[in-house]
Amino acid sequence: MTEVSITRAKTGDVSATELAAFAARTFPDACPPSLPAGEIEAFIGANLSPAEFERHLAAAESAVFVAEAAGAVAGYALSVHGVHDAGPTEWAGERTAYLSKLYVDRELRGAGVAGRLLAAAVEAARTEGCAAIWLGVNSENARARAFYARSGMRVAGQRRFAVGSVECVDDLLAIPL
Ligand SMILES: CC(C)(COP(=O)(O)OP(=O)(O)OC[C@H]1O[C@@H](n2cnc3c(N)ncnc32)[C@H](O)[C@@H]1OP(=O)(O)O)[C@@H](O)C(=O)NCCC(=O)NCCS
Repeated sequence: MTEVSITRAKTGDVSATELAAFAARTFPDACPPSLPAGEIEAFIGANLSPAEFERHLAAAESAVFVAEAAGAVAGYALSVHGVHDAGPTEWAGERTAYLSKLYVDRELRGAGVAGRLLAAAVEAARTEGCAAIWLGVNSENARARAFYARSGMRVAGQRRFAVGSVECVDDLLAIPL
């Protein structure tokens, strides 16, 4: 069984270039099959660059958890703590944690790594005074939805989410803290 460590990473703890490459490789797995590759690439270029990860690793309001196996990035969770206009209306104006990304290497899915990453993000959100942790998930992402339901997340609204120039409708899921 592969040993997987999970740590909260700040600047210098992990290569932002490696993290960005992992994010770019795994992001398409969360997209509906109908989404054109060019739109996915546009999203990756704008949001998952090494510079974006450098920014999150340095930011006090960002919590980046990295799963590593055999010295390589095997998963990550990224949440942003603050007041979010696009979050569930239930917590409008309150400090919440937006779980922006949760990705696990294909080979390690079904092995509990996602649960450990989510638990770490939940704990950080609770410790840092957030009223809830929430995320947006595509309606066609059945595996992620099953995982979140088992993890205690409940539907808390909907949002429009742009991938490139295509607007997708995501369900918002949340855990009150
Ligand atoms: C979402 C993700 C982090 C979950 O991690 P995981 O290790 O796959 O999660 P688990 O295996 O613990 O749970 C997945 C659940 O989906 C079920 N499942 C597996 N394949 C499925 C499928 N094709 N359709 C529906 N359910 C499926 C599993 O049986 C399991 O449910 P169960 O525990 O009730 O049996 C991981 O799949 C991933 O990285 N996916 C790609 C990126 C992504 O979609 N991220 C989320 C964006 S919001």
